[in-house]
Amino acid sequence: MEFFLNLKPPLENYDILNVLYNFLIALPASTLAGVIIFFGLLIFKKLQSKEYRLYISLSFVLIIAVTSSLYNIGVNSDTLVVVYSEWLHLIVRWLHIIFGVAWIGTSFYFNWLDSRLERDDPNFKHLDGYLWSVHSGGFYRIEKLKGPPETLPKVLHWFKWEAYATWISGFVLLILVYYFNASSMMLKNDGFQLTPTTAIIISLLLLIGSWFLYDFLCKKIEDDKQQLLVLTGFVLFVLFSYFLTKIYGSRAAYIHVGAIIGTLMAANVFRVIIPAQKNLVSSAENKQKPNLQLSIDAKNRSIHNNYFTLPVLFIMISSHFPFTYGAVNNWLILVILSIAGILTRHYFNLRNKKQYKVWILPSAALIMFFLMIFSSLSIFDNDKKQISSSLELVNFNEVQNIIKYRCGTCHAKNPTFEGIESAPKGVIYDTANDILKNIKLIKAQAVDSDIMPPGNLTGITNNEREKLRIWIEQGANINN
Ligand code: HEC
Repeated sequence: MEFFLNLKPPLENYDILNVLYNFLIALPASTLAGVIIFFGLLIFKKLQSKEYRLYISLSFVLIIAVTSSLYNIGVNSDTLVVVYSEWLHLIVRWLHIIFGVAWIGTSFYFNWLDSRLERDDPNFKHLDGYLWSVHSGGFYRIEKLKGPPETLPKVLHWFKWEAYATWISGFVLLILVYYFNASSMMLKNDGFQLTPTTAIIISLLLLIGSWFLYDFLCKKIEDDKQQLLVLTGFVLFVLFSYFLTKIYGSRAAYIHVGAIIGTLMAANVFRVIIPAQKNLVSSAENKQKPNLQLSIDAKNRSIHNNYFTLPVLFIMISSHFPFTYGAVNNWLILVILSIAGILTRHYFNLRNKKQYKVWILPSAALIMFFLMIFSSLSIFDNDKKQISSSLELVNFNEVQNIIKYRCGTCHAKNPTFEGIESAPKGVIYDTANDILKNIKLIKAQAVDSDIMPPGNLTGITNNEREKLRIWIEQGANINN
């Protein structure tokens, strides 16, 4: 392999002929790998088509050849890994959102469909209900049968891959963003410290263990005691949220709550809902009665999934809101926001059953409002302190130094921090102007919370954070 790829010590010059030459040298070994991939893909039933396999293996040939020629002309392998993994991150995150939208979209759609079916039409007594709709250039008529059809259609759509693909892409994302950067993305900034490896092991155990615990509780608590199940589940949710924020960095803690709930949702589809559907289909085929208990279980689990959606969606966007995950009582904020989400879902579920409980939505809104006020008390309080602290003027030089050494190693045009190739999120603090432009973000990430630097990798002190705060409150003057 080494002979074909010609892995040799890095060269100095990057000219195009050199790249081409190295590309050609890398081709034979890459083609060999491509052939192996071409036949290897035969293990996937869906990829029996020659054409697909050809395209996939050709892509791999190109990727391997280009990568090894870049390496051969002297591009640092660490740099390659960073560049590749950032683009992989982009693609996987994009996919995760697309799959998630498809999953939640179909699940919302079928909920809505069930609630809007025309059920009282005397001419269609043989149906459970039907519905007319108009969408994108056509009229649709959907019918829900009372039982299985006489003969099963050739093509029956299941809606399961959306769920699986969402979970798989989510898990890959967890690996790329959190496991690969465990020391900066998973660990706490201060206090109790895990090692990166234990953080990852705990994460895996939590994902697996929480499914078994949830599944056990669902089976143990009888169907007519759903309230007890909801209460137990809620207590566990609070405990998990609290526990996770005590062992993980704040963002990782939130994401893990989301990952756990997402795992329960996908596993509900995989282990309970789809098996029940399979049972329905096979009993229709064999003209037998379906297993009623399986259907009841599936219905219950899909109701659970329905209530899980809004909290999970909030957690997916939570990384944009440092005032939630970065707050001192971040676990409580998560719990309260989730209650508001679950109430909102509850309102729509009841409305779908033609029960109009008008008080629910305003209550959810009020919960959000009071959460906003209570979580901001410390900010209001800081504003008051501004007057007392304005006596000692903080010098801009001092501020610039703090930012240079504590943030600028990563947030610079040319970062010096190992493993960081370009300024994260495009945030740069090279000049006084850069600092002024980003003042709100500095305050949010490093003063009002301790999110930055991640894992406090550059060792910023509380005293320094306080200096930044005072300087900002004194008007962020660069001439001080
Ligand atoms: C070890 C490298 C490192 C250091 C040091 C560092 N950061 Fe960051 N910073 C990051 C990374 C990585 C991200 C991107 C995180 C993400 O994916 O959301 C980031 C993101 C940010 C963002 C953008 C947040 C957003 O979601 O838009 C701001 C603002 C920020 N950092 C401010 C700071 C400040 C202020 C400091 C110094 C007190 C600092 N950072 C120190 C690595 C660092």
